[in-house]
Amino acid sequence: MQRTKISKLLEATELDVDIHVKGWVRTKRGNKHVAFIALNDGSSIHSIQIVADPNTIGEDLLKGVSTGASISVFGKLVASQGSGQKVEITAERIEVIGVADPEKYPLQPKKHSLEFLREIAHLRPRTNTFGAIFRIRHAMSYAVHKFFNDKGFYYWHNPFVTGSDAEGAGEMFRVTTLDPTNPPLTEDGKVDYSQDFFGKETNLTVSGQLEGELGALALGEIYTFGPTFRAENSNTTRHLSEFWMIEPEMAFYDLTDNMDLAEEFLQFLCQYALDHCADDLAFLEKRLIDEDKVKPQAERSPMTLTDKLKFVVENPFERLTYTEAIQILSNSKPNKKGKFQFPVEGWGTDLQSEHERYLVEKHFKKPVILTDYPKDIKAFYMRMNEDGNTVGAMDILFPGIGEIVGGSQREERLEVLTSRMAEMGIPEEDMDWYLDTRRFGTAPHSGFGLGFERLMIFVTGLSNIRDVIPFPRTPGSAAF
Ligand code: 4AD
Ligand code: MG
Repeated sequence: MQRTKISKLLEATELDVDIHVKGWVRTKRGNKHVAFIALNDGSSIHSIQIVADPNTIGEDLLKGVSTGASISVFGKLVASQGSGQKVEITAERIEVIGVADPEKYPLQPKKHSLEFLREIAHLRPRTNTFGAIFRIRHAMSYAVHKFFNDKGFYYWHNPFVTGSDAEGAGEMFRVTTLDPTNPPLTEDGKVDYSQDFFGKETNLTVSGQLEGELGALALGEIYTFGPTFRAENSNTTRHLSEFWMIEPEMAFYDLTDNMDLAEEFLQFLCQYALDHCADDLAFLEKRLIDEDKVKPQAERSPMTLTDKLKFVVENPFERLTYTEAIQILSNSKPNKKGKFQFPVEGWGTDLQSEHERYLVEKHFKKPVILTDYPKDIKAFYMRMNEDGNTVGAMDILFPGIGEIVGGSQREERLEVLTSRMAEMGIPEEDMDWYLDTRRFGTAPHSGFGLGFERLMIFVTGLSNIRDVIPFPRTPGSAAF
């Protein structure tokens, strides 16, 4: 008899039928006459209650049914006498598949801190909190594909190993099979990468955009969705060294079309979470409310999780230029002292996340799209504006996050692009393949990148990016 998933049983309308479930024990309580086992199989935030009579099931066997053990249960689905659940299972036979020694199993039935759970990343998916997070992660991934597929975009697969630095920031992890202690050298004493595995210097991708542009200029509209690697030494709650990015790229889109698409996309994802992740969101929301109770008023979240998602769905995003934002920030009094921790240094410098969050949370009170940044703080591929100082960039800022999306219209004019590359010291010969798209049938095009884990922080309300990816990689930390 095949097992039935617990999520299905919890919705079942037919009672007193024979069923078979398998899963992991969350808790066991009871007495000599009856045992109540909460069983979870990962299909739902809810566990199902198994009622077991030690006389039928065997007292000795029930000893092996402890928190963390995996068991198989045959029994009948019946209406529950207790409060808190509609149905439960009366056990007829239980098999212990794998024991979990209560003396040694690290996940006891109590609330563990997220810091502790990070230390046992291999077991934390078995907790309610991480079960909820990773089910939502799945739902959001599916929603990404659904959104683009329904719009006729093609899922475009980029290489992870590449010879280019798309962002020009030099934050790459090198891929090499050369012996680091004794690499071959050229005549002028540099490492000779022509003798390396791929015959050239290669690294893990920092962004699939440039290859994505090749796809868009052939198939029209494409998107990528895959891991991205950055060797930036940012040990913050918003940065990972390995994160997942979604990068749509569209031929014949200008910056406004790009903003319209990004706004629709983010609103779709938030609505999808509201529609399809209600139980997991309700659990995480309660968790946040409980945490808030012990915090001082000032540190409490101003909005519940569902309110935040609705806030994105219901508010058209505010659109303004970087220059306008600098004016607003320069005239702002963000707190009682009237100062930002990092002062706004004026036109030409990058914004700090406290500035971004101020614009969203205090000034406009809605998501914000900032456009037309100074060329000197953006990548070489962004389209030069008429003024010669700014480029057609767009960053989307979210409450509690700051930048969640970065994108731009791309420079499609060959001469403008090559002179920009020369200014920035990017050798043309390395980028011949990219420049060919501008030499042959060039066309205006645009795209953006959504950091999937930044989206996940927003949707789940977790405050550390290490808690929304199964196996976080950050500077100094890549357990197994
Ligand atoms: O702004 P970024 O660097 O833009 C690009 O890579 C462009 N090539 C995207 C494009 O136009 N196709 O990164 C895009 C987004 C950021 O807005 C942020 O959400 C996320 O990726 N991101 C990170 N997320 C987690 N950890 C990091 N270290 C991240 N760096 C960027
Ligand atoms: Mg960016």
